[in-house]
Amino acid sequence: MQIGNNIGILHGGDYNPDQWLDCPEILAEDIRLMKKAKVNCVSLGIFAWSRLEPEEGKYDLDWLADIIQNLYENGIYTILATPTGAMPHWLADRYEEVRQVGEDGIRYDIGKRHNYCPSSLIMREKTRQIDQKLAERFGRHPGVIGWHISNEIGNNGRDGACHCSNCQNAFRTWLKEKYGSLDCLNKAWWTSFWSHTYTDWSQIRSTSSRGEDLLHGLNLDWKRFASSQQLDFSKEEIRTVRSYSALPITTNLMAFFRPLDYFQWSKEFDFVSWDCYPDWHSGADELQTAAEAAASHSLVRSLKSESFLMMESTPSIVNWRDKNRLKRPGMHALSSLQAIACGSDSVQYFQWRKSRGSSEKYHGAVVDHKNGENTRVFRDVAQLGERLEQLSPKVIGTCNQAQIALIFDWENWWAVEDAKAIDNSIQYFPIFLSYFRPFWEMGVDVDIIDMTCDLDKYEIVVAPLNYMYRKGYAERVRSFVEQGGCYVTTSWSGEVNDTDLVYLDRHPLEDVLGIVPEEMDVPDGYCENCVEYQDKKYRIEGICGLVHTKGAEVLASYQHDFYAGYPALTKNVYGKGEAYYIASVNEADFLRAFYREILQRKGLGCRMQITFPMGVTVNERKDPNRQLWFVQNFNREAAEVELLACYRNIETGEQLKGKITLQSFECIVLEK
Ligand code: GAL
Repeated sequence: MQIGNNIGILHGGDYNPDQWLDCPEILAEDIRLMKKAKVNCVSLGIFAWSRLEPEEGKYDLDWLADIIQNLYENGIYTILATPTGAMPHWLADRYEEVRQVGEDGIRYDIGKRHNYCPSSLIMREKTRQIDQKLAERFGRHPGVIGWHISNEIGNNGRDGACHCSNCQNAFRTWLKEKYGSLDCLNKAWWTSFWSHTYTDWSQIRSTSSRGEDLLHGLNLDWKRFASSQQLDFSKEEIRTVRSYSALPITTNLMAFFRPLDYFQWSKEFDFVSWDCYPDWHSGADELQTAAEAAASHSLVRSLKSESFLMMESTPSIVNWRDKNRLKRPGMHALSSLQAIACGSDSVQYFQWRKSRGSSEKYHGAVVDHKNGENTRVFRDVAQLGERLEQLSPKVIGTCNQAQIALIFDWENWWAVEDAKAIDNSIQYFPIFLSYFRPFWEMGVDVDIIDMTCDLDKYEIVVAPLNYMYRKGYAERVRSFVEQGGCYVTTSWSGEVNDTDLVYLDRHPLEDVLGIVPEEMDVPDGYCENCVEYQDKKYRIEGICGLVHTKGAEVLASYQHDFYAGYPALTKNVYGKGEAYYIASVNEADFLRAFYREILQRKGLGCRMQITFPMGVTVNERKDPNRQLWFVQNFNREAAEVELLACYRNIETGEQLKGKITLQSFECIVLEK
């Protein structure tokens, strides 16, 4: 990543001085406190459009110039936002078409944010004008280190899309380009079903619950279009900024955010960043939350196979969940260092200072309404700032290097939850996460890639619930296994092609997997079932596939019902590699045992010489000369780990070996 390399780990966050321009004493105090908290980077201007262009065509950038300059003179760098995250009244009022229309056909009123229409030419032009002003004026300022396009694009609290007539027309144009003729489209979408054949392009409308939402091909293409149309808008912003500035460009993503295919998005940006808000202290323990946060960081890192920025996180609470718990002592440092451990080169917050009014006035911030630096949160942040400063020279330049990849694919996400099949409450993400978590528990870094990514750099590829195969995917898996790769997949995979048409005749990877899928079941209630694997029984907790083998070896089988004895886990040797098929969604211990087995066979695992209990995990960041280990205890009590070799704590300089105790929510950083 090209940002912040000579500054170190970035520490700071969203700063909204535009809310305080008439309080110079507060702005001066901000600088003093930022220095005290070791803040070296802020994001500016995210929602400042009405301050930057108070009237159409009348710009006022001087205040921003003063702020950027003042920050810079105090050693604080700026990531400058384009302000399209929220529209000023004059814009939304004067030009109705910039406001989105919902799937019900009703245009939204003025207000809130993340809600411009990406097809509106007026919106694009007004955006170009303000972006140009910003980029011309600040694109070469030594205090500005990067660009932050808009904010949490698509996060409109609905389906992320606009359904206005401009968007409908753009959708039709997009479809014409994709299919060439209505005949091809009708075939691809299987529109003869229920007499829904299109005879004119104008008949095609976006997916809507008031109209058509049962043509799966339409649903899928609408989602693809909505993601790419939004991206098209952002690409215009990127182009404008790039014409005046050579600085790297990002936008703050939201990890597993369903409306936008981030694998497509990340290609357009110079580096990736995301906003991280785990729900700490919510469950019986912290482990599921921690595993989910690790999965999100790993996804974002994998988008460009390099370190990234955590652009937002809260220093204390959020205010948008039903109940918003404070971070318990230790959790602020642990959750921040977890981001670094997983590949982030920053700990940035939302927000620096609490606003005085409106809906985020009680959202956590480094600086509260009262008490300045004399708060627990400020002290936590300042302490972390010290630690990050010390860690920077070692950390910057390193990254996680996984040998295992998990497939997570947006298009598959959209398709699999729309399948209308055996389980209509099926959710891709929780099942995917259940395949991630055991690796996390074992301290094994995994990358998260989609079906278009390169498989060949990995030793093991795990592909849960790959219902829809993207073009060329089956061929790439075949060649990966042929050349020695280990491929693990599950039932409800390889069902449909990329227009959601079911494969006929056979599973596209039948030869590689050595099995023939027949039926699916959801065994619960009186049909409860379990599988036996390595002499242990595991409960089935979700869908299960009934298959027979065609060359594969059976490693586990169902225990009850009419399919007792049917294969539940198979292994097929193919070329130089092997392919496993897990037929049922089982309780977590099953995957723990299975992963242990395949990791052992492949000679992979946690690369640190250490043993640790459940709730402690390890991430490794390295470069050719350094290897750093982040040992993190997510347990609510102390935990003992055993170092089987000598390691040096890079913060204290202590040499450590043998049994050591990690306090609750403690993270230590070691090197060999
Ligand atoms: C993010 C958003 C920020 C702020 C924050 C509160 O989604 O980008 O502007 O609203 O949430 O947690």
